[in-house]
Amino acid sequence: MSDELGFPVKSVIEGSARLLVPQGVGEVDPASLPVFYNPASKISRDIAVLAVEGYFRDKKEYLMCEPLAGCGVRTIRIMLETSSMSSAVAGDINDNAARLIELNASLNGLGERVRAVHIDANHLLAKMHAEHQRADYIDIDPAGSPARFLENACRATNKNGLLGASATDLAALSGASASTARWRYGAYLVRTVFPREVAARTLAGFMVMTAARLGLSAEPVLTVVHRHFVRVFVKLGRGRSRALDSVSRVGYLAHCGSCLLTIKNTELSLIDANCHECGGKIVSIGPLWLGELSNKELIKNILSSSKREDPIYKEAYKLLRGIDEEIQDIPMYIPVAEIARRAKTSPPSVSRLIEKLREMGYRASITHHDHSAIKTDASLKVMIELSRQSL
Ligand SMILES: C[S@@+](CC[C@H](N)C(=O)[O-])C[C@H]1O[C@@H](n2cnc3c(N)ncnc32)[C@H](O)[C@@H]1O
Ligand SMILES: [Zn+2]
Repeated sequence: MSDELGFPVKSVIEGSARLLVPQGVGEVDPASLPVFYNPASKISRDIAVLAVEGYFRDKKEYLMCEPLAGCGVRTIRIMLETSSMSSAVAGDINDNAARLIELNASLNGLGERVRAVHIDANHLLAKMHAEHQRADYIDIDPAGSPARFLENACRATNKNGLLGASATDLAALSGASASTARWRYGAYLVRTVFPREVAARTLAGFMVMTAARLGLSAEPVLTVVHRHFVRVFVKLGRGRSRALDSVSRVGYLAHCGSCLLTIKNTELSLIDANCHECGGKIVSIGPLWLGELSNKELIKNILSSSKREDPIYKEAYKLLRGIDEEIQDIPMYIPVAEIARRAKTSPPSVSRLIEKLREMGYRASITHHDHSAIKTDASLKVMIELSRQSL
């Protein structure tokens, strides 16, 4: 095999797939290998498998497309582990990758159903759109930002299809690198105590606006932020009024860095310069998605799948159960360490703080973004008082 490919390979198993990957996997930076494969991103692929299975409930003959496919593991796993996709197009700009995808597909009995192509992602997606060969599921999984592929991905997705995109440029999306967020996503972001929520909502908002430009609606149905990546899945629809409805849920957060008051705003004109609670300076963050990041129905489908008992998906299920518990319409979270810092106490227990706030009539939940943070509609003042009561 190594002679045929021109570089040494080894065999690995991920999920239900047996794959040939370059020697050196797990030892060196995946980007320096002859073909990209990062075993640490297995959970991102587990989630894609579960999202596809939960979204496409009827067993129709669906087509999927992964234009940045590396060794093909994601496509091959989705084809093997779900029953909805009957065929796939997997492409990569790296010729070695395209040849390895073809080999891996046939090793897994998918030679007839997976078409491996050596082509630039935008070229492939534009071609599929132009030739009316749209896909029902498109997965955009670059190293870094998916921004430059999203417009063509929207074009190449069928009506009511699913588009999943991941980003690893968390510094830009979370507000740590404000200038990159500005030119790459057109967003004004600042550092907050809830950077991972900002990242998720900025990417979701960008996907919705990208779709809307083309007269398409986009509704986030599953959003995950885990370790070094954000992944947003949107359901795409057609029609100007639907597109307008989607973008009407993209807006800004008016945020006070002093008391952390954070209010959703769809109109910039409504943003006061000073906080009505504490007089602190208000900054506006966005544009970002202000609606629900994950759809209850889809999560219910995933959580009721027989895969929940399968050890392959154990870590993914843990994450998805956390998302299921999370309050969807509060667009921020507060780390307990931040409450403690301001209260000059030790950090309160997350579970006891949530329990206490609920007893008091507030809404409160955990967040999958940060296990030592909570989502709540209570003010910081209330939480500071509670943490002083040594919870
Ligand atoms: C993060 S890796 C993909 C990993 C893969 N999706 C997985 O789950 O294992 C990104 C891949 O995109 C490819 N790539 C980079 N720029 C591209 C472009 N413009 N068009 C197509 N592929 C591209 C790289 O060669 C690399 O294989
Ligand atoms: Zn304030």
